[in-house]
Order: sequence, then structure tokens, then C-alpha cells
Amino acid sequence: MVTTDWEEHYQKGDTPWDKGEPSPGLIDFLDLHPELNAGDVLVPGCGLAHDVRAWIPHARRVTGMDLSPTAVKAAGELTRDQGLSAEIKVGNFLNSDSEDRFDWIFEHTLFCAITRDLRPNYVKGVLNRLKPGGDYLAVYYLLVEGEDEHPPYSSTREEIQALFSPHFEMQSEWVPRSYPKRQGREWMVWWKKLG
Ligand SMILES: C[S@@+](CC[C@H](N)C(=O)[O-])C[C@H]1O[C@@H](n2cnc3c(N)ncnc32)[C@H](O)[C@@H]1O
Repeated sequence: MVTTDWEEHYQKGDTPWDKGEPSPGLIDFLDLHPELNAGDVLVPGCGLAHDVRAWIPHARRVTGMDLSPTAVKAAGELTRDQGLSAEIKVGNFLNSDSEDRFDWIFEHTLFCAITRDLRPNYVKGVLNRLKPGGDYLAVYYLLVEGEDEHPPYSSTREEIQALFSPHFEMQSEWVPRSYPKRQGREWMVWWKKLG
């Protein structure tokens, strides 16, 4: 399996996943919960951090993380240009040695960017960074088997449930409003960490 060079994608401006706005599903979720005070929020695989900025009014502290230094630099500039403040840093979410713990983790097209063999490390990445009882909100991009040559890699409800159910209680799940070409292909799940 060829590893994706995310940094090269950002350096070349070849970022078809970036829609220049937060996930519509996240916007609707936050609109539905105007009272939400999420505390400390982590957005791994944040890219240009549109979702990070959407969380800012609803959190004490929002942190974005991405593998790509070019994405992180551009995300920081966009955030400052809008007069907003968030910590956006380079990091590998699959390394679980972080000491920082969060109340919420928000996922948007990172899970599908991770090859299937590495997804158990992704689950550990969520578990190790979330406080006990913490919330993990995900916008999964669902793709059928056979689309495994390059990201987004296949992801199904069954796989996601098998990976997360041992560690999280499903609070609710729904098909969110989405970008035109992804409509009906995303699945939003609000999980609560057990223990
Ligand atoms: C498909 S893009 C989605 C970006 C952003 N969430 C969005 O929707 O615009 C996947 C992102 O995850 C980042 N990424 C991939 N593997 C990662 C990892 N192990 N740790 C942190 N970021 C990662 C990539 O650099 C890229 O920005």
C-alpha cells in the first residue's frame, strides 16, 4: 500500500477534500446545541482548520492537529486573519504518547484517510486523548469495499461499530447534511467514552 504524502498535497494545493468551509453536519450539530460548552476540543486531521474555527464559540480551548506542516501554517494564518485564536499544531494522531486530554474530539474525514490496518491505532489515538466520559463526535465518510487504492479508503458502518463499540457508548447517529457530492454518504455518530 502506498502511503499518502499529505504534505506534498498541501504544498501543491492539490486538496480536493477541502471545501473552504466547515462540515455542514458540524454546523447543524452546533446550531442544534447552542448551549453547548464543550470545554477542551481536539480536531485531529484538521487540514486548513475550518472545523476548528467552527468550534471556537462553543469551547474553552480548541486544538487542531495535522501531519502536514504546510496545512498547519496555512490554518494558523487563516485563523489569525479572522481574528480568532486556536492552537494548531503538527502531530501524528496515530502516536498515542500525548499527555494532553480533551473533553471532546471531533472527526471529519480523518478516519477514511487512515488505512484499515492502522485503524486500531486511530481508536487508541481517540481513547488516549479523551478524558473519561468524554465525547467523540464523528463525521465518517462511508465508502464500500474495493475503494482501497488511495484515500479515502473504504469505511463501513459495520467496521466502525466493531472498532468503537467496545470502548464507547453510541449516544446518537444520523445521516447529516453534507457537501453536494457527499450527500447521503456521510454518517455522523456521537459517542461517549466508557469509564
Ligand atoms: C482528507 S483530509 C481532511 C482534512 C480536513 N479534516 C477537512 O475535512 O478538510 C485528511 C487530513 O488528515 C491529515 N492526516 C492524515 N493522517 C494523519 C495523522 N496520522 N495524524 C494527523 N493528521 C493526519 C492529512 O494531512 C489531511 O489534512
